[in-house]
Amino acid sequence: MAAQIIDGAKIAEQVRARAAQAAADLKPGLGRAPCLAVVLVGEDPASQVYVRNKGQKTEAAGMRSLEVKLPATISQADLEAQVRALSDDDAVDGILVQLPLPSGLDSNRVLALVDPAKDVDGLTVQSAGRLLAAAQGLRPCTPEGCVILAKEALGSLRGKNCVVLGRSLLVGKTAALLFLAEDCTISIAHSRTQDLPELCRSADILVAAIGKPNFVRGDWVKPGACVIDVGINRVPAENGKSKLVGDVNFAEAVEVAGSITPVPGGVGPMTIACLLRNTVIAAATRKGLAIPASLG
Ligand code: GUN
Repeated sequence: MAAQIIDGAKIAEQVRARAAQAAADLKPGLGRAPCLAVVLVGEDPASQVYVRNKGQKTEAAGMRSLEVKLPATISQADLEAQVRALSDDDAVDGILVQLPLPSGLDSNRVLALVDPAKDVDGLTVQSAGRLLAAAQGLRPCTPEGCVILAKEALGSLRGKNCVVLGRSLLVGKTAALLFLAEDCTISIAHSRTQDLPELCRSADILVAAIGKPNFVRGDWVKPGACVIDVGINRVPAENGKSKLVGDVNFAEAVEVAGSITPVPGGVGPMTIACLLRNTVIAAATRKGLAIPASLG
C-alpha cells in the first residue's frame, strides 16, 4: 500500500498562521511588529528566490521584513560591519545571513557577529551549544520543520530509531540532536558510513539530507517507516526542462514507507514557517515578554 503523503505546504501554512496570530498578540507589548532582517550577498539566483519568498511570507504574517542586499564584491570587513549594525539595532529582532556566501567570504566569522538573541536561523555557536545542552534557545529552522512533520505523521516520536543521512550543521547534525530531544535513538550517517542501506533499513524515521538526487532507494526503507526528505535537487526532466527532486527516490520509497514527504511541498515550506516562529520567539524573549500562547 502506498504511503501517506505528508503535506508540508498545508502544515507550514498552519505554522505561519499561528506565527501571524502570535505576532499580532505581541504587538501591543512590543510597540511595533516583530522585525526580521535578511542579509543577501551576491546574486545567486536560488538565494534570490529564497530571500524574496522569505520577505513576502514575513510581511504576510504581519511582521516587518528588512532586506539588506550587498554586492558579491563586498569585503569581509564591510560585511561584518553590516551584520554588527543589525545586531546593535534595537528595532531588529531576528537576523538571517543567507548561505552560502560568495567564495572568499568567511561565513563563520560573519555568523559570530550575529547577536545570539537574534539568531533566528539557529546557526551561531551559542545556539548550537544551547541545543547540545538541551537549554532554551532558537533552533535551526529546517531541522525543526523535519521534527514537526515527523510528529504530524507519527504522533509521539519516543523510542523510535531515527537515522539521519548527512552531517552538516545546517541540517544533519542539528536534526539528529532535535530528534534526540524527542527521545529518539539516533544515528548520523555520512559518506564514510559502512553498509548504508542496512543502517537505513533500521530506521523508523529516515531523514535524508545529503544533497544527492534520488540517492535513497526503495529497498533501503523499512516497511512502514516515516521518510523525511530534505533534499532539493534540480535535475533534467523528460520534456527537456528541469524539475526538483529530493534525496529519496520517491516513486520507489512511497511503495514501502508508511509516510513520506514529497519534493517539492514537503520540508521546503517548513523552513520559512519555522523562521517566522523563531522571529516571534526572539522578539518576545529579547524584550522580556511572554511568548504568546497563540504560537502553539
Ligand atoms: N541557505 C539554504 N537554506 C538556508 C537556511 O536555512 N538558512 C540560511 N541562512 N541559508 C540557507
